[in-house]
Amino acid sequence: MKMKNVSLLLLTLALFFISVCSQNVEQIQFVLRWPQTYCNKDPKPKVKCDKTPPLKFTLDGFGGTDSNGKILQGCKDTEKRDWKKVLHTTMVTQLNNFWPSLTKQEPIDMWKEAWNTYGTCIIKTFKGPTQYFNRAVRLAGEIGDLLQHHLINSDGIVPCDSATYNNGEILNSFKKVSNNQELSFTCKKINSTHAYLDQVTFCYDQKDPRNIVSCLSSVTSQRCLVQNIIVPRPSPPTRAFISADSSMTGEKLRPNSIWEILRQLI
Ligand SMILES: *[C@@H]1O[C@H](CO)[C@@H](O)[C@H](O)[C@H]1NC(C)=O
Repeated sequence: MKMKNVSLLLLTLALFFISVCSQNVEQIQFVLRWPQTYCNKDPKPKVKCDKTPPLKFTLDGFGGTDSNGKILQGCKDTEKRDWKKVLHTTMVTQLNNFWPSLTKQEPIDMWKEAWNTYGTCIIKTFKGPTQYFNRAVRLAGEIGDLLQHHLINSDGIVPCDSATYNNGEILNSFKKVSNNQELSFTCKKINSTHAYLDQVTFCYDQKDPRNIVSCLSSVTSQRCLVQNIIVPRPSPPTRAFISADSSMTGEKLRPNSIWEILRQLI
């Protein structure tokens, strides 16, 4: 009886994965994040950053979505990869530029995981990990330094904990990058009127991922609607959040960090 249940479960799981993976890829997403929000502004962090986040957008995810805008993941790689060949020195240098590991995880392991989890679901588009990472490098190069070139230089949007920018200003600044194609950005809410900028999603044609296209409406409808957006300035990592308030000013982080050091000594 028990054996039967287990095999039934396995069969269901197998069918589930087959159905997930045979889903059509509708678009490719290139998702950047503002690392300070990811590392230090999440009251319930899932991961622990171990360094001060860089003062630039970094890649969060590169994968496919189905026609509902759901991210495709969990497909299987049918080939064994020669990772030394795929992630050669030049590639590693290029990837580290825009896709660094913000946690203790080795960047190479993080990239392999990205291929295995997301890349394999868009294998029809990219054929293999080399093409997948090459395309990521290309797209990152095309978008360029999103912070410096677009937010700061064109629109005067400077990372600073005490400055707020209007939602529309932020959106328009990003839209210059996408040639006015629809995109999405998310934020971490502080309260009903204020939020920290979190992720920016650009969408590409799955047949020809060189072409930026408007994201599906199911994706853009998730866009942050909070009116006042803060682009927080990078600060050293914090592990404990006493309250949401304590993470808002640099000064108040100090006792917190000392507490962290003490905890590590104990
Ligand atoms: C919301 O948060 C911002 C930023 O911390 C603060 O300036 C503002 O007063 C808060 N508004 C309310 C209604 O609490």
